[in-house]
Amino acid sequence: MKRAYIETYGCQMNISDSELMAGILAEQGFVATDKPDDADVILVNTCAIRDHAEQRVIGRVGQLQEFRRQGAVIGVTGCMAQRMGDSLLGRAGGVDLVMGPDAYRQLPDKLTEVAGKRTRPALPLAFGQHAPQQPRGLTVLGFDPHENYEGVAAKRISRVSAWVPIQRGCNYRCTYCIVPYVRGDEKNRDPQAILDEVRALAADGVPEVTLLGQTVNSWEHGGWSFPRLLREVARVDGIRRVRFTSPHPNGFTRELVEVMATEPAVCKQLHLPVQSGHNRTLKRMLRRYTVEEYLEKIEWVREAMPGIALSTDVIVAFPGETDEEYQATLELMRAVRYDDAFLYKYSERDGTPATRLPRDQFVPDEVGKARLERLIETHRAIQAELYHAEVGRVEEVLVEKEGRRGGLQGRTESNKVVTFDGPVELIGYFAEVKLVSTSGATFVGELAHAMAAA
Ligand code: 5AD
Ligand code: SF4
Repeated sequence: MKRAYIETYGCQMNISDSELMAGILAEQGFVATDKPDDADVILVNTCAIRDHAEQRVIGRVGQLQEFRRQGAVIGVTGCMAQRMGDSLLGRAGGVDLVMGPDAYRQLPDKLTEVAGKRTRPALPLAFGQHAPQQPRGLTVLGFDPHENYEGVAAKRISRVSAWVPIQRGCNYRCTYCIVPYVRGDEKNRDPQAILDEVRALAADGVPEVTLLGQTVNSWEHGGWSFPRLLREVARVDGIRRVRFTSPHPNGFTRELVEVMATEPAVCKQLHLPVQSGHNRTLKRMLRRYTVEEYLEKIEWVREAMPGIALSTDVIVAFPGETDEEYQATLELMRAVRYDDAFLYKYSERDGTPATRLPRDQFVPDEVGKARLERLIETHRAIQAELYHAEVGRVEEVLVEKEGRRGGLQGRTESNKVVTFDGPVELIGYFAEVKLVSTSGATFVGELAHAMAAA
């Protein structure tokens, strides 16, 4: 029996992929371990979205060489693996397997193959003794237009809230984004397979699911649209909460708003990436909507669901962003007042169309940093105001796990994190929790009432 340790970087899709990888490995007799120390196989599932994400992985692979010298096989999977390919094999001390996101069914075979080629050192290594030189690793890259991992039983981390991938890849070509080049074109899963998976989760007592896709609302399959799928998922017996991420503002239709508003299980929470508050920037980003169109959709949502929690993604210092364009983003943040926001400084990704925009109009790094800082400050102040206004409310919290500093941790319907004291038996159940204080980004609560079984 081989022990496998998986470490995940990046977005929810990657977390979900790691759960698929764990499922594929488990089927072939690998046993999961939660630390690299005693692993025969170490997998680092990576993100390529920003340079910073990749640098962290390189640093981590360097640290993990300690275990590789003692015989563990190191595999780098995911978006960065697909982007860098062969060139990763020799990085950070060495990697044995590089595998892109469409090849995970081959994981057990390829891991066994590279492990067989490795020379195991006599342990322990004496001081000054070098580990044997290892043979060159393997690379498995490329896209498979039919690979949706249908039939793979994901080995999920949480028994409370489950990621359900419904789409892989992306058909948009936002000019900053590496995703289409590392995950390929959009592929949508069969609705019956999705519904079967959700029903099985519900039968297992999982009360919350989050539907995942790069542009999740563009999902369609054999005459089914995303609103229809969302409605059917929301109506599965036992499913109490449904979320989805991330929708693209295009194709965010009134019909979808209607399903969100009328299906009680669909959480009144929406992550709708805007990226910029200025039309010129949006155009250079090839986002295919205007600020006005975006704001109109926010209005629909708020009209239909007053009090809905909103979040977004923003990139500052996109090539050519003028101060005026940046100010428009600040203004949009002040106008919408997001409950949460993921704010980034543009990171140049090789091979993306934005790298070909006029070089002399690229935003200097210090300017980008200052813009990001100011935007974060602005957002945090708004967020703190919104959170403080919620103190005193009693919210239905789905209890997810023990908190980092003791107690319990869960989320409200609007996806806000609450920690509070209570018995661990509540994990997996809903509880009424009074919000008693806030850090400005999370809440501390008091158990008001533990509710019946989920
Ligand atoms: N630089 C900075 N941020 C980026 N994102 C995507 N590509 C880049 C990039 N090259 C951000 C977008 C996206 C989120 C997941 O990451 O805001 O919505
Ligand atoms: Fe997720 Fe995109 Fe990062 Fe890949 S590159 S892990 S799809 S955020």
